[in-house]
Amino acid sequence: MKELSLHLLDIVKNSTAAGAALVEVFLTEAEDRTLTIVIADNGAGMSPETLSSVSDPFTTSRTTRKVGLGIPLYRMAAEQTGGSVKLESALGVGTTVTAVFHLDHLDCAPLGDLPGAAATIIQGNPRTDFRFTRATPRGSYCLDTREMRALLGPDVPLDAPEVFAWVTGYLQEQEDALNDPTQFPAYGAGI
Ligand SMILES: Nc1ncnc2c1ncn2[C@@H]1O[C@H](COP(=O)(O)OP(=O)(O)O)[C@@H](O)[C@H]1O
Ligand SMILES: [Mg+2]
Repeated sequence: MKELSLHLLDIVKNSTAAGAALVEVFLTEAEDRTLTIVIADNGAGMSPETLSSVSDPFTTSRTTRKVGLGIPLYRMAAEQTGGSVKLESALGVGTTVTAVFHLDHLDCAPLGDLPGAAATIIQGNPRTDFRFTRATPRGSYCLDTREMRALLGPDVPLDAPEVFAWVTGYLQEQEDALNDPTQFPAYGAGI
């Protein structure tokens, strides 16, 4: 995939498919130019067997259960920057996927359209709660659908078109502030 935001869409889909009620996404950029993406859900979780087969689909024989490529591709995207992907999961508890990317590595995909990806995730799963936390040395922001629900009231579902537009606009504003070189001259245009 060409953008980390597209991987985010794909990996979050695993969480919603596992019936998560809450998915927390942390995108943390450090001074050393690493980006750590943590996706933590309280969905069904994985058995130790599933967990190990997911880690490497190519060791599984064709006659066993179908294993997808989402996590292997994500791992490849991280490892090609010198980073890594770590999975932690427990049945009935949930799953946490932690990926580290080295942003200055030549083979690091751009973050891409994070506001669009987050808005798409929220719109596509109106009954699931999401918390997006983005932290960088230049500033940080957070968006929590539980807070949005409280403000919007019971009559406005999170898949309403005006909610999609508001989320996209809000997150784009936050991203623009993070990437404004006049506000944060030491970091230039950011990522
Ligand atoms: N967050 C998660 N919660 C529970 N199971 C998961 C989660 N993420 C991945 N899995 C399991 O790992 C499998 C492989 O995931 P993935 O590589 O994304 O491929 P795919 O989604 O196409 O099956 C999933 O089918 C699912 O069984
Ligand atoms: Mg998947």
